[in-house]
Amino acid sequence: MDDYVELKYGGKTYHLPLITGTEGEKAIDISRLRSETGLITLDPGYANTGSCISRITYMDGEKGILRYRGIPVEQLAERSTFKETAYLLINGRLPSLQELTHFSVMLNDHSLVHEDMKIFYQHFPRASHPMGILSAMVNALRSFYPALENLEEEINITVTRLLAKIRTMAAMSYKISLGHTPVYPRPDLAYCENFLNMMFHTPVRPYEIKEEVVRALEVFWILHADHEQNCSTSAVRMVGSARVNLYAAISSGIAALWGPLHGGANQAVVEMLTAIKEDGGDYRKAIARAKDRNDPFRLMGFGHRVYKTYDPRARIMKKMCDQLLDALNLDDPLLDIAKELEEAALNDDYFIEHNLYPNVDFYSGIVLRAIGIPTNMFTVMFAIGRLPGWIAQWKESMDDPMWKLSRPRQIYMGPVETDYIPIDQRG
Ligand code: CMC
Repeated sequence: MDDYVELKYGGKTYHLPLITGTEGEKAIDISRLRSETGLITLDPGYANTGSCISRITYMDGEKGILRYRGIPVEQLAERSTFKETAYLLINGRLPSLQELTHFSVMLNDHSLVHEDMKIFYQHFPRASHPMGILSAMVNALRSFYPALENLEEEINITVTRLLAKIRTMAAMSYKISLGHTPVYPRPDLAYCENFLNMMFHTPVRPYEIKEEVVRALEVFWILHADHEQNCSTSAVRMVGSARVNLYAAISSGIAALWGPLHGGANQAVVEMLTAIKEDGGDYRKAIARAKDRNDPFRLMGFGHRVYKTYDPRARIMKKMCDQLLDALNLDDPLLDIAKELEEAALNDDYFIEHNLYPNVDFYSGIVLRAIGIPTNMFTVMFAIGRLPGWIAQWKESMDDPMWKLSRPRQIYMGPVETDYIPIDQRG
């Protein structure tokens, strides 16, 4: 089999190396293209560009496959915990019992946030979006926890701090937005339980931890834990390539995730379903609008850059929705609308021709509503889940022998050289 492709240009033939991944995916290595040919490539949105070689997550968009470190996400959602999955992504293998226990102790030990941070939280305007607050506060962590001299120790402790504190910070922003006193993390509670308790416990109504709710949250976070080179992960890698500290790189990932085309879609789906419900429940209007080229409206929670079939995460999330609502004896009218909307879209020619299927966000908002998470915190929930993936990808890029400062090129189409005209001589 050929191990290069030929490029003919300017009367010359160039041999560009072919790279094959462990799952057979092929790529043309163009890393020397410009120095050898003077050419660059043009690829808006990087839809055809591999930005790195990675050993973390594999996805096949045509077959609907997602694996973390080789393990199918379905198996992790069935049998693992978010904490164990985070360890797997960051360290490259499943932990032993002893390693997992040590990891838990470390996460507990670092779960408090500096008391002075509360002052910052209290001064954000009440209408601030929690994603803006989270991004700012994660970036601010560097000021509270200056770098250690030993690089290895610094990375390990920063990773632990981020994983441990992000739940406390997220819950704290919610409590402060209600005007309540934040609830401190409890060492006797595991990762997910602790977060739920910090979110919902009040002195007048102690939070009752329900097994089904904890499991739903574990699965929600496992399903969001990594998704290879998506927009926010690419932001983390790109910003990280300037060798900023990890807090700053993660803060940029949170900012990217906020967008409605990315992590913000879970909030947008629930808003869309609510609008359909308030308009009498006729989901066909939404489908008609999504198909109308003159209308910018899109069916939120549908379509994906990589998946051209059913998103495997959406399948698990849909099942989780039914299980959780059943277990809690809840009836959410948005779930009925979502199911009808899904069925209508999957049978509609436009959606079939465009390969548009539900993505992870289509049902995840309904799971979060059942847990009691307010809509404006949905994307924060996604961010907590994606944190291990961002960290794993950042760590991999730090050790990458092919590492380079991210700096794409462009094709300039602006004015050619033009003389400056003094203001009194302009027409
Ligand atoms: N509703 C209606 N039409 C759509 C949709 C949609 N949700 N998604 C894509 N299309 C159409 C689009 O109009 C275009 O049509 P045409 O070729 O006729 O002009 C075609 O499909 C291709 O669209 P695109 O924007 O070029 O495709 P993309 O790969 O850049 O888009 C996407 C991926 C996720 C941005 C897009 O599908 C979308 O906007 N979906 C809704 C937002 C959403 O649910 N985002 C969450 C993504 S999953 C969570 C995550 O991992 O971040």
